[in-house]
Amino acid sequence: MTEKNILPADLEALKDEALAALGKLAAESDLAAWKMHFLGKTSPVMQAFARLPQLPADIRPEMGRKANQVKQTLEAALNAHMEKIAQELVAHALESESLDVTLPGRKPRTGRLHPQTQTLREISRIFGDMGFQVYHSREVELDEFNFELLNIPAHHPARDLWDTYHVNIPGAVLRTHTSPGQIRYMREHAPEPIRVILPGMCYRYEQVTTRAETQFNQVEVLVVGKGITFGDLKGTLIDFARRLYGEKVKTRLRPSYFPFTEPSAEMDVECFICGGDGCRVCKNNGWLEILGCGMVHPTVLQNGGYDPAVYSGFAAGMGPERISMLRNHIEDIRYFWTNDIRFLEQFS
Ligand code: DAH
Repeated sequence: MTEKNILPADLEALKDEALAALGKLAAESDLAAWKMHFLGKTSPVMQAFARLPQLPADIRPEMGRKANQVKQTLEAALNAHMEKIAQELVAHALESESLDVTLPGRKPRTGRLHPQTQTLREISRIFGDMGFQVYHSREVELDEFNFELLNIPAHHPARDLWDTYHVNIPGAVLRTHTSPGQIRYMREHAPEPIRVILPGMCYRYEQVTTRAETQFNQVEVLVVGKGITFGDLKGTLIDFARRLYGEKVKTRLRPSYFPFTEPSAEMDVECFICGGDGCRVCKNNGWLEILGCGMVHPTVLQNGGYDPAVYSGFAAGMGPERISMLRNHIEDIRYFWTNDIRFLEQFS
């Protein structure tokens, strides 16, 4: 069929061809191509319209009618087919995406607090109940505050108690304990009475073992005022242990040595695994050490801006990881900071 002489019969054949092709189409994109081919500007039907004026007058009306009829038929068929495909799509979606509203819901995965955040919060709550403030001191500390002002002069053998990470800044170290915060807090508050705890991360250049890490938390306790005695120290720390471990916990103080306290002691709690009989956890002696403590050394009071002739105080330093290990029977301190989700998920 050349373009010049399309006849009504050709259009009829074309209609049949178009309808047959349409019946086989399933996708909307195919429909667009079909429409372009059979009803587009260059399609034979539309061309037939375009050429009507040039046709001989005797066949012009019939040709016009036929072209109109074929065009309308094809358009109607296209619309019907489009409708059918759309309905099939909806039916298919309803079937495949059916929602069983009786199924139980899926729990979203929620995060939780790190076990040490929980322990630190509990320690803060207990001291908060006893009227203590919480102060966050710095982790990068001056050698002067970490040692010197705490009565640990350079070259003094007492420094061997703390293996230190030094920092590129001259005179700065990663704090080896929370005790330097004592000086900072005292200097900010002298001569007011003090009741404060100072929690935070400390760092030591140590051989890592099941009981020693290079980073760990400490909570420092500091009380300064007029007439503070060792009795206050004992009462406060025993009260703390009872609030943390329960009324029945047994505690004891053992004499010890720290350069920044005089006298100094360590506090033990009775091993709650063996009840004091001796076991692997308490290394067979029935007691577990939980903190160091003592009366603030006069030199330290002075360095903090308090006259030791007028003021006295007590201090303590505890390791919350140790406290968690004892409470939760955790055998290796390294679990806390290796971020193993299987460990962390056990503390809800
Ligand atoms: N700073 C000590 C340490 O890291 C712990 C300590 C002991 C702190 C006795 C104190 C204290 O405040 O009185 O080993």
